[in-house]
Amino acid sequence: MACEKSKILVFGATGYLGSYMVKASVSLGHPTYVYVRPIKSKTDAAKLAVHKELESIGVTIFQGELDDHEKLVSALKQVDVVISTLAVPQYLDQLSIIAAAKEAGNIKRFIPSEFGNEVDRVSGVLPPFEALLENKRKIRRAAEAAGIPHTYVSANAFATYFIDYCLHPHDKNRDEVVVYGTGHTKTVLNYEEDVATYTLKAATDPNVQNRVIIYRPPKNIISQMELISSWEKKTGRTLKKIHVPEEELIRLSETLPFPDNVPVAILHNIFIKGDQMSFELTENDLEASKLYPDHKYTSIDSLLDICVVNPPDAKRAAFA
Ligand SMILES: NC(=O)c1ccc[n+]([C@@H]2O[C@H](COP(=O)([O-])OP(=O)(O)OC[C@H]3O[C@@H](n4cnc5c(N)ncnc54)[C@H](OP(=O)(O)O)[C@@H]3O)[C@@H](O)[C@H]2O)c1
Repeated sequence: MACEKSKILVFGATGYLGSYMVKASVSLGHPTYVYVRPIKSKTDAAKLAVHKELESIGVTIFQGELDDHEKLVSALKQVDVVISTLAVPQYLDQLSIIAAAKEAGNIKRFIPSEFGNEVDRVSGVLPPFEALLENKRKIRRAAEAAGIPHTYVSANAFATYFIDYCLHPHDKNRDEVVVYGTGHTKTVLNYEEDVATYTLKAATDPNVQNRVIIYRPPKNIISQMELISSWEKKTGRTLKKIHVPEEELIRLSETLPFPDNVPVAILHNIFIKGDQMSFELTENDLEASKLYPDHKYTSIDSLLDICVVNPPDAKRAAFA
């Protein structure tokens, strides 16, 4: 008898990563559910269109607020796995999901919204970014204290998102790029479709229960200068490099008002401090491309080839 597919519920499904997550869940054959904010006005055409699109691919929609405990419990009782891709300001709202999961009592796996650094293995992060990481740690500790089976995903950097930010592939007339620090620090850029597929695989994998999984596929480890050089070769253009020194990012992180101080602290962490590659993986670590070799991930080189022809849409808000 075929094994029944886990029912997946996504929070943040209408957002950037959430839309990838829902598509991955559906394409892997999971009965897929989303918990979204209610549409308050029939004239909210954009939201209605998103909900229609979700329904058209077979997704079941629960409408409710994050602080509606009864609705949350009722939704959670109908599924097996919860994946949250809620945005940064909603991190602590995930405490409501944890409380509801505890009461529902049936949730086999909770994946909180992280998808960045391995937050329990970084240190010396600039304060505006550290505050955000601390909220992720609070959610980890709350899930553990509530006894909810969980998986923590360290997805490192989203590739389309950062290619868009660093190389501006949509703007063929731009002839300069910004380089943070020396540009030689190694980062890990993972295509959003792969981030979603690996997450769905991990969400139902008993080996990853109550563990951290790190997305560090070998072909996606690259420095800013290597990324720029590869882009120059593929486009046949030479770009002027404008270097922003470390001291400047630190100064901006100390002087810009919130929330503008957050992106500079993140850029410092990724491109100068290099926290994504600052620790060696040991045999006790779970790395996605090793764990799921059957999944042929899109390498950075292939993604740049795609970007030369037709750059995928990237979310721009956070660093715009
Ligand atoms: N590693 C990387 O490079 C990288 C890059 C970007 C993001 N991320 C991470 O990925 C995760 C998701 O980020 P994202 O950029 O995909 O987020 P996003 O696009 O901003 O999506 C946010 C989602 O949260 C929902 N939301 C917003 N305010 C809400 C509220 N008050 N109540 C309930 N729901 C609310 C939105 O619903 P509505 O549609 O109703 O507004 C939307 O579905 C975050 O953990 C973020 O840090 C990582």
